[in-house]
Amino acid sequence: MNNPETTFQPPIVEHPRMTVIGTGYLGATHAICMAILGFDVLGVDVDQRKIDQLSMGIVPFFEPGLPEQLALALASGRLRFTTSFDEAAEFGDVHYICVGTPQAPGSEAADLTYVDAAFTALAGRITRKALLVGKSTVPIGTAQRLTALVAETSPLGTELEVAWNPEFLREGFAVQDTLHPDRLVFGVASSWAERQLRAAFRPILEEDTPLVVADLATAELVKVAANSFLATKISYINAMAEVCEATGADVNLLALALGYDARIGSRFLKPGLGFGGGCLPKDIRAFKFRAEQLGVGQAVAFLGEVDAINLRRRSRTVDLIRELAGGDLTGVRVAALGAAFKPNSDDVRDAPALDVARMLYLEGASVVVFDPEANENAHRVYPDLDYADSLTEAVTGAHVVALLTEWEQFTAADPTVLGRLVASKNVVDGRHALDADRYRAAGWEYRALGRPAAPETVVLADHARDSVVLPAL
Ligand code: UDX
Repeated sequence: MNNPETTFQPPIVEHPRMTVIGTGYLGATHAICMAILGFDVLGVDVDQRKIDQLSMGIVPFFEPGLPEQLALALASGRLRFTTSFDEAAEFGDVHYICVGTPQAPGSEAADLTYVDAAFTALAGRITRKALLVGKSTVPIGTAQRLTALVAETSPLGTELEVAWNPEFLREGFAVQDTLHPDRLVFGVASSWAERQLRAAFRPILEEDTPLVVADLATAELVKVAANSFLATKISYINAMAEVCEATGADVNLLALALGYDARIGSRFLKPGLGFGGGCLPKDIRAFKFRAEQLGVGQAVAFLGEVDAINLRRRSRTVDLIRELAGGDLTGVRVAALGAAFKPNSDDVRDAPALDVARMLYLEGASVVVFDPEANENAHRVYPDLDYADSLTEAVTGAHVVALLTEWEQFTAADPTVLGRLVASKNVVDGRHALDADRYRAAGWEYRALGRPAAPETVVLADHARDSVVLPAL
């Protein structure tokens, strides 16, 4: 029999009150979804404007479905927002830290200023046993360092525990990914922390969501390892596109054939302009940087190649546009369709589309950008580019049309109608998202990275030709 003293388990709060520190994409979504699941939630941010907007039911960024969920959560009375850390410390049993970890200026490392500030602010104020749960993407070893920092700062000492719960949500699917994640990962240092987290995620676990309980370092690593794998898969097919370009092979057909192998799978095997956004690019750089610090840089040195392949897609897209423009971009009007890093998002962080527009502009092209949601954010970053209010306005008079973000309104547009608006029927499909045959039939010169310039070079059976456009990811 176990000694009762060694089996004593500190009690958990069965229906914990939660705070969510940081109300960006991750935090706002998490706070709203936790309230939808029935918890009392306090969202906290240092930005008064964001707090005011959220309190009024306005989501400060574009995310399909989230405004409706925010309205429901506010109406339930279970969700409130504040800028006060005192209120947060008093309110919460479980505190989720969801602040940003951007790339540090002039370095590949992650900037942990906001994470450290959030943990310190809570640790100095919390006066009863509680759990601090990091959700931000951080370098391995951060949770351990924060555990020590919290123990030093908190009047409770080691009673105030740190856990890590990485987040895998995709922009554009944030609500779905938060309410019904494909897995949960708990990085914990005690069985109390595990039990408390299980209570905090009960409604999700009751759906039989797979759960991996791990140590803190593994939980941190899962996130960067997953994002590195996804980035590598995208760069792999884009590397194959480079080989295709040198051989006359077609990367779209290659991806289709590879994807039918269940061990490979077709998701994240879509060739084109490559990855961008607030996660993949910075995460692979920070991971490589951290691995070098840990003396295992060689193990992930390939991530440098993954990054380089990805960035080369942008300059190669500019090359294709220049080629179609007759070798010189000076004064050439280019319609840049898309600015966001992917469709259904207004996020322009490290956006390949906007980067291509910038490079075209620097070569003297007259670039007109149109994105259904991201024009405003893009304008803030690159005020010198011209922005159109509609697809029609963007393509009118264009010498080259470049599809850079595959919004549905672009892929669904009729090439015959567009053909009447442009100055020359040249299109570069940076996302392999247009129907090449339809464009060519409507008289367009269609080009895409990793595909032969002329269709005659590929002999296709009719049924294969139908399936050239890959399924949506
Ligand atoms: C990503 C991860 O998917 C998510 O799990 C993590 O939590 C955060 O980072 P997100 O940044 O929202 O999510 O975007 P994602 O849908 O993964 O796309 C990333 C980029 O890769 C986009 O620029 C997209 O256009 C590009 N991409 C994606 C490709 O170029 N090819 C593909 O096959 C898939």
